[in-house]
Amino acid sequence: MTTITLVHGDITEQHADAIVNAANSSLLGGGGVDGAIHRKGGPAILADCRRLRASHYGKGLPTGRAVATTAGRLHARWVIHTVGPVWQPDEDRSGLLASCYRESLRVAAELGAASVAFPAISTGIYRWPVDDGARVAVRTVREAAGGPVAEVRFVLFDDVAYQAFETAL
Ligand code: AR6
Repeated sequence: MTTITLVHGDITEQHADAIVNAANSSLLGGGGVDGAIHRKGGPAILADCRRLRASHYGKGLPTGRAVATTAGRLHARWVIHTVGPVWQPDEDRSGLLASCYRESLRVAAELGAASVAFPAISTGIYRWPVDDGARVAVRTVREAAGGPVAEVRFVLFDDVAYQAFETAL
């Protein structure tokens, strides 16, 4: 049985076994959550990302997939990097967004993580409407959580996102 919790705050401050990064397929950093995680976590995360690119993902991590690295100086033990879809108003890409949550949970279970913190993937720079992003996130986590993952925590940066997740929950 997995408990789903909501927190208003910064994902880089979370005490959780794993935190999820809303990355891009290069795995080499960016803005938003990605920038904050690399800044606070330090260069060990980027070094792991570069190794993953060289060993497994020469063309980059595909959208909807997830991989884990060290969390460097963060409280967490692991960062799970996933690549959300960019919002396209004329195309339903919600299957790819759901895949980000499902694949991240699969990786977390493989690692034996008991707690996993997620940001609202794709709802920032990738422009996904937060109400819809929250519905996809909650539905997918309800379906996919289990195994060693006892807590899934959504960490929402602002009131609008928090309220969207509260409604979805
Ligand atoms: N803690 C929690 N949530 C945050 C934080 C934080 N520190 N910072 C921002 N958010 P985004 P995306 C919220 O843009 O849309 C990067 O350049 C933010 O308000 O981080 O998936 C990557 O490299 C929003 O609700 O991720 C990619 O190129 C949510 O987190 C691209 O952005 C996600 O916003 C990914 O875009």
